Amino acid sequence: MSSGADAASDGGRRKLNFSSGPAVLPEQVLRRAQQALIDLDGSGIGILEHSHRGPEFARVLERTEAAIREVGGIDDSFAILFVTAGATHHFSMVPQSFLAEDQTADYCHTGVWSGKAIDEARRYGIVHVACSGEPEFAAIPATLTWSASPRYVHYTSNETIYGTQWTAPPAAAPAPLVCDASSDVFSRPLALANHGLIYAGAQKNLGPSGISLVIARKDFIETGRKDLPPLAQYRTFAREHSLHNTPNTFAIYVIGEVVAWIREQGGLTEMAARNTRKASLLYDFLDQSKRWRGHARPGSRSMMNVTFRGATKELEETMLSRAEERGMSGLRGHRSTSSSSSTRSSAPRQPERGLRAERGPARWGGGSAFVSRVTAEGRNVQRPPTQHSTPCATQRTAVEATARRKAARRLARAVTPLGTTVSTRAGARSTPLCIRVARMSEILSRPARRRARRGRALRATCSGAWRPHS
Ligand SMILES: Cc1ncc(COP(=O)(O)O)c(C=O)c1O
Repeated sequence: MSSGADAASDGGRRKLNFSSGPAVLPEQVLRRAQQALIDLDGSGIGILEHSHRGPEFARVLERTEAAIREVGGIDDSFAILFVTAGATHHFSMVPQSFLAEDQTADYCHTGVWSGKAIDEARRYGIVHVACSGEPEFAAIPATLTWSASPRYVHYTSNETIYGTQWTAPPAAAPAPLVCDASSDVFSRPLALANHGLIYAGAQKNLGPSGISLVIARKDFIETGRKDLPPLAQYRTFAREHSLHNTPNTFAIYVIGEVVAWIREQGGLTEMAARNTRKASLLYDFLDQSKRWRGHARPGSRSMMNVTFRGATKELEETMLSRAEERGMSGLRGHRSTSSSSSTRSSAPRQPERGLRAERGPARWGGGSAFVSRVTAEGRNVQRPPTQHSTPCATQRTAVEATARRKAARRLARAVTPLGTTVSTRAGARSTPLCIRVARMSEILSRPARRRARRGRALRATCSGAWRPHS
């Protein structure tokens, strides 16, 4: 996704990052985000510090949604939702919302991710597997059989791990389509027809992890269960513009910038052309190579994740270590593919330069035009419990920062805009006039800090205009 100049513009320090997600972002977006951390749109306050109810963030949300609608060609019959969770969350949120115990949903089984979605759906209702690419998952099945009356039809538009992609959504589906588009959303023009809901974890194509974009027909959302907690219902996000609770404001900001960048580059048609060009470089090479072999079969090949294997494990390891030496990172395969040992690459998200510059058989141990990712052969590496879904790095950092500031936070519960300290007593009830206290230690004077440290409550000395609540 990044422009060709990106990696070089930081004094060569930025590597060519082939991680499938969290993945490379356009450097222009990163620079803008860097600036927005300090000062969002000239407001004098950073994006991380703005209230999600304030006018500044309202503008961010509005322009992000507008850019998504414009670039995606999405009309008003669809809602644009930002759900604070990864794609895995929707594996259960979808069936929980739309599938009753005695109802059937049809699932297209094309790899690891569709498998996880199927497992979750089985908790709520009946799953009919409409097609399966097992055991190799090297192709999108050509024949689909529908159940008598499915509630919806689920498919994974791009199976990241096996490197297969639907060239078009399943045809003649007898129910609304539900699509996991996590690894190819906005990589090509959106095919919205017949879809009830499209969800995509943002960290591959759109921005940071820990948030997902949902594009859903408003009338489909309304058919969902109403007796679930608010945050388990898509309608809550639609009705409250993703503001039922505090959303991931920074992620929404970055998504807006990425989509604006896509618009500047020429939109989704241009993205598709670039991705096809870059993927073709690799597939052309693989097709003529005697030592490297692509996993996905022609007709099902992903334009986002190219998966391939070397003739020997040694060859793959040589290529990977040489790639590392040359500043290429994130190439080893997905850790959950215990049975597959395919080597793969997420080439299309890289600058084209990344592919062309490294072309030439001699460089990769007699082989590749490019580098790849290699799975640990035969190893079943489980994700630790905290990483069931892709964790949000921003949130993690924020949590650590919060812990570091805990002492400062204990010093005072709130200050008025006049700088008057209201109370620092532990257990004080929440103050109606709430001001973020992230920099409390800077706000309070030194003697005040000292007094507070000694455990003395700081008493309000309010003017007539301001008074403490408790
Ligand atoms: C197609 C697909 N679906 C779902 C996921 C899981 O997303 P998350 O980690 O955001 O829950 C991934 C990869 O991470 C993916 O590639």
